[in-house]
Amino acid sequence: MVIKKGITAEEKVETFKAELDRIFDIKIREFTKLCVISAPDYFFLDCPASSTAKYHPIDELAHDGTIIHTKRVFTLVYELCRGLGVENRRDELCSASLIHDLLKQSYVKTGHTHKKHPQYAAELVDKVQKATMLLTDEEHQIIRNCVGFHYGLWSTPPWVKPLADYTMEELTVYIADYVASKRCVAVDYKR
Ligand SMILES: [Fe+2]
Repeated sequence: MVIKKGITAEEKVETFKAELDRIFDIKIREFTKLCVISAPDYFFLDCPASSTAKYHPIDELAHDGTIIHTKRVFTLVYELCRGLGVENRRDELCSASLIHDLLKQSYVKTGHTHKKHPQYAAELVDKVQKATMLLTDEEHQIIRNCVGFHYGLWSTPPWVKPLADYTMEELTVYIADYVASKRCVAVDYKR
């Protein structure tokens, strides 16, 4: 297996073209695209979904594992937001699903999942919003909170609260991430 050494902004966007095209609000799509471009290169080049190989479907253990995982979370979020009654926020939830693991190993490649990665992804959301102001305050809060709370029971401060206090939007992204990471579940993201 040959792992590429570098990646351009265009290639980063191309990686998630199918998903970005399913975000209908132009500003939310552009915002998400900028977050994807701002993600560290290692995410696209060498980032297995599980650094210990104990979790996640087997096909997510290779260098492109977190990309595949992210596409599966996106697929589940797209469907679940209807079933959980938050379809009016589908664009924000789809955006959060693409952003939630962009800093999985921290700002630089560490070789393992960083337990603060939800915080780092929320910082990315804040940074891109501050630079562009593409989102309304409400859209910004929904995306940053869905990203920040996506780790559910495994969260670390300041992103800890009882699941009973999760909004339906936050719960949708958490459940999608949790379910997509299970080996007993096969999510067809190419459909
Ligand atoms: Fe995830």
